[in-house]
Amino acid sequence: MDDFILPYFVTDKIGKEEIESMPGIYRFSIDELVKDLSELKSIKKILLFGITEEKTETGENAYCNDGIVQRAIRMIKKKFKNIEVIADVCLCGYTYSGHCGMIKKVEDNSRVIIDNQKTIAQLARIALSYAEAGADFVAPSAMARGQVSAIRKKLNKEGYGKTKILAYSAKYHSSFYGPFRDALSSAPQFGDRSSYQLDYRNSDQALAEVEADVQEGADMIMVKPALAYLDIIYKVKEKYSIPLAAYNVSGEYSLIKNLSNEKEQKKLVLEMLTAIKRAGADLIISYWTKNLINWLK
Ligand code: PBG
Repeated sequence: MDDFILPYFVTDKIGKEEIESMPGIYRFSIDELVKDLSELKSIKKILLFGITEEKTETGENAYCNDGIVQRAIRMIKKKFKNIEVIADVCLCGYTYSGHCGMIKKVEDNSRVIIDNQKTIAQLARIALSYAEAGADFVAPSAMARGQVSAIRKKLNKEGYGKTKILAYSAKYHSSFYGPFRDALSSAPQFGDRSSYQLDYRNSDQALAEVEADVQEGADMIMVKPALAYLDIIYKVKEKYSIPLAAYNVSGEYSLIKNLSNEKEQKKLVLEMLTAIKRAGADLIISYWTKNLINWLK
């Protein structure tokens, strides 16, 4: 199970609440998250996403010291010494616009242009506050140019040279993220993410993005989504020896979850995850991680 990363959605609401578009996946309060983790002895790595009602223009709630993710990290690191905590670094869950960066302008055809400088400055602040809270990894997912080096510089400068970076390097503009955006209520309020996420007709771009992130100091790189992008995983793995993660995203989860019973699910999931491994992923981020633990017992 060392190769699997389980995503968690954490919220200030009390208790746990199933995500409608992702049956079997929940939004957890910090208490419930701790309870869930204590029942799952074999989980080694988790990826945290914060949910907040308090959205703003610039997303500053993502980096306040007592933010939901910061508090969750501190609690998890206190209670579970052996769990590696990866914190997703992005603005989309924290801004009115629901975009991953700060907006410079919206063109007539509703193409969204991101202010890259301002965005990476915000992302670096978020990453620092997660590092201060005790995150082992910060994972920038905004696809802003230079985000990895901005974060690396800031962390080093503030004394967090040991905090690692998992870069969402090759993140495609994909319809497979639909259920996740429900979970976080982070769907863009206007336009879409095609001006900063990759075009799925293109594979060279993915390699260029990975190259940039490796140069900028990423400790681990990512291809996302996974299942429809096995060729990209394969190409990246052929060229780079740095650890490679693949994100088996929400739409890939819900597809199987909604179409089949548990027995079929098990077979489908094992086949799917094996294919992602076979393509070359070292680590897989998957909402199926918990089921996998039970199935492989
Ligand atoms: C935020 C982010 C997204 C996902 C992970 N981080 C959504 C997006 O880019 O729209 C998707 C994860 C999933 O679908 O499971 N930038």
